[in-house]
Amino acid sequence: TPAVIVAIDGPSGTGKSSTSKAVAAQLGLSYLDTGAQYRAITCWMVENGIDVADPAAVAAAAAKPEIVSGTDPAAPAITVDGRDVAQAIRTPEVTSKVSAVSAVPEVRSLITGLQRSIAASAAGGIVVEGRDIGTTVLPGADLKIFLTASPEARAARRSGELKGSDVQATREALIKRDTADSSRKTSPLAKADDAVEVDTTELTLQQVIECVVTLVEEKR
Ligand code: C5P
Repeated sequence: TPAVIVAIDGPSGTGKSSTSKAVAAQLGLSYLDTGAQYRAITCWMVENGIDVADPAAVAAAAAKPEIVSGTDPAAPAITVDGRDVAQAIRTPEVTSKVSAVSAVPEVRSLITGLQRSIAASAAGGIVVEGRDIGTTVLPGADLKIFLTASPEARAARRSGELKGSDVQATREALIKRDTADSSRKTSPLAKADDAVEVDTTELTLQQVIECVVTLVEEKR
């Protein structure tokens, strides 16, 4: 079977990561979490005292950290300058700052370059998840999926993941981040014209995985 490139985009809390990892594992494909890359560069900015509200400062520092992503869906790895940051990139501070950093064009062009080279070298095919994969990073992908869900469902899923957090606060933070991601100038969160939209509100994770696996198999 030829290498298949699958782009999975959508806002947070739609089950993008869980779905992408499971589909990749089930079909023997590589996997790339592009959100983790934006989180990693944000983590480095925070730790190095860069003011993330200053786009010029972020742009000037963008090329300094070396970000390396693993592509094994069973153990997604991410390092910055050789350090494992898998935990550090999930803090509330990084989550609240990542949209500002990812909106800076210099950051996007660097990370987009990394993503394209990873996808190009994934011999057996790859599932790439993010916000602008189908529109900008890999417009020639064999299959594009755009996952959606109601704000209520997304907030409930996120607060389920973040134990002890309340749904209302999670919902507000999530909407704020999606609004920022959708309204930025450079490659905003958007559905590609040729993407298949899957509304996951009423679906279980297993149903979403099966739906995407079927769509990939139709393309192979
Ligand atoms: O998917 P995740 O929630 O980890 O993404 C974190 C952030 O990274 C998003 O809110 C967005 O600001 C940015 N991002 C992006 N483009 C992508 C993937 C993520 O701008 N392809």
